[in-house]
Amino acid sequence: MAQLWGGRFTKETDQLVYNFNASIGFDQKFFAQDIRGSKAHVTMLAKQGILTMEEKLEIIGGLDSIVRDVENGTLKITEKYEDIHSFVEANLIERIGDVGKKLHTGRSRNDQVALDMRLYVRDEIHEIDEELKKLLIVINRIMEENLETYMPGFTHLQKAQPVTLAHHFGAYFEMFKRDRSRMHDIFERMNYCPLGSGALAGTTYPLDREYAANIMGFYGATANSMDGVSDRDYVIELLAALSTVMMHLSRFCEEIIIWNSNEYRFVEIDDAYSTGSSIMPQKKNPDIAELVRGKTGRVYGALMSILTTMKGIPLAYNKDMQEDKELTFDAIDTAKGCIALFTGMIDTMQFRKDRMEDSAKQGFTNATDAADYLVKNGVPFRDAHGIIGQIVLYCIDKNIALDDMSLEEFQQFSPVFKEDIYDAISLKTCVEKRMTLGAPGPAVMKMVVEDNKKYLSEGE
Ligand code: ARG
Repeated sequence: MAQLWGGRFTKETDQLVYNFNASIGFDQKFFAQDIRGSKAHVTMLAKQGILTMEEKLEIIGGLDSIVRDVENGTLKITEKYEDIHSFVEANLIERIGDVGKKLHTGRSRNDQVALDMRLYVRDEIHEIDEELKKLLIVINRIMEENLETYMPGFTHLQKAQPVTLAHHFGAYFEMFKRDRSRMHDIFERMNYCPLGSGALAGTTYPLDREYAANIMGFYGATANSMDGVSDRDYVIELLAALSTVMMHLSRFCEEIIIWNSNEYRFVEIDDAYSTGSSIMPQKKNPDIAELVRGKTGRVYGALMSILTTMKGIPLAYNKDMQEDKELTFDAIDTAKGCIALFTGMIDTMQFRKDRMEDSAKQGFTNATDAADYLVKNGVPFRDAHGIIGQIVLYCIDKNIALDDMSLEEFQQFSPVFKEDIYDAISLKTCVEKRMTLGAPGPAVMKMVVEDNKKYLSEGE
């Protein structure tokens, strides 16, 4: 009896261990990259005379047939295999026999998985960059159309000084442009091929690592085989960069949620990007913006997870590193989806220019310009600041804007005020006079928009 039970126990434990160890549930995501790496490997082996030309062709034919059958659904990637590498190799041997066993010559799963992950991340960096570029095109279009759409600029979420919608969106243009440049930097550093690192100490076969690297579009081969199999810095860099993208998107979403609220009504999110409430008929909720803001946490979590996984790992490969995949895949898919949805949301969003302009007129956003007017007419800045402060109090009491005061009222506070004060503090003047590079003046913003177009057409 005991033996029977023992046998049963061992079997179940084996199954649990197998399941715990297996990665096929998620590493099938880089099936295409695994095939690509294997083809490059056998091509190099044949060039070096380690395989014959016939063997190479047979293996490549077998790999192609596996791809075909997976694509047309006749071959399923199942949990029967521990990981995607075993799935491909087992099926290859099943199809072409003993020659298939030569595929893994001079290779270890350690450099194989290091290569697959790099190929996968490299492809994704391009896709993320493309999504960011599409977002920038939409932002710049909105900027161009709103060079003279006045709105309040805020500090501490309090109305501060008038800006334009173009200027506000222009701030995000800069952020996402830097995000693209981070993608570019990461690519430059990570585009080296670990294949040929073997398990950790290279191999005794006369591999041509540079050749294999070149046919896969890498700049070259990694210079140290222990580092080659155990480096995941580029994953960390990507997740840090994606966290920054999400942080930017989340800030933008937060603003759109505020602008979409009943109190502001600066924007109207298209019906396609909002939902109603099941109970409150008047509601139109900014769900997409809220979800993007909410999903930011997942991407930050992936970054913390991989940093923690990597921190205690002795050289070289350790199984802990299998944990680099699920969260990275999730973070990439999440960020890509968020960028695309966010782009669609702002592309279809309506801007209530009248509401924005009215809001900029309220809240004394021209108070600094009124003080500057006094300064230009000989009043020391500190005194001017005090005079305008008193005027603001007076206006709050009367519930009027600075522009609503009569010249006599202005002159009660300072005899320096003349008729030209009205022009000096008009919204248009306040914005148009800010003409230094980076400021909201429409003339200078127009130049920025043109520079942005040039940057976007350069295909950087
Ligand atoms: N599934 C493994 C991973 O993702 C592949 C490498 C396995 N290597 C090994 N020595 N067990 O890291």
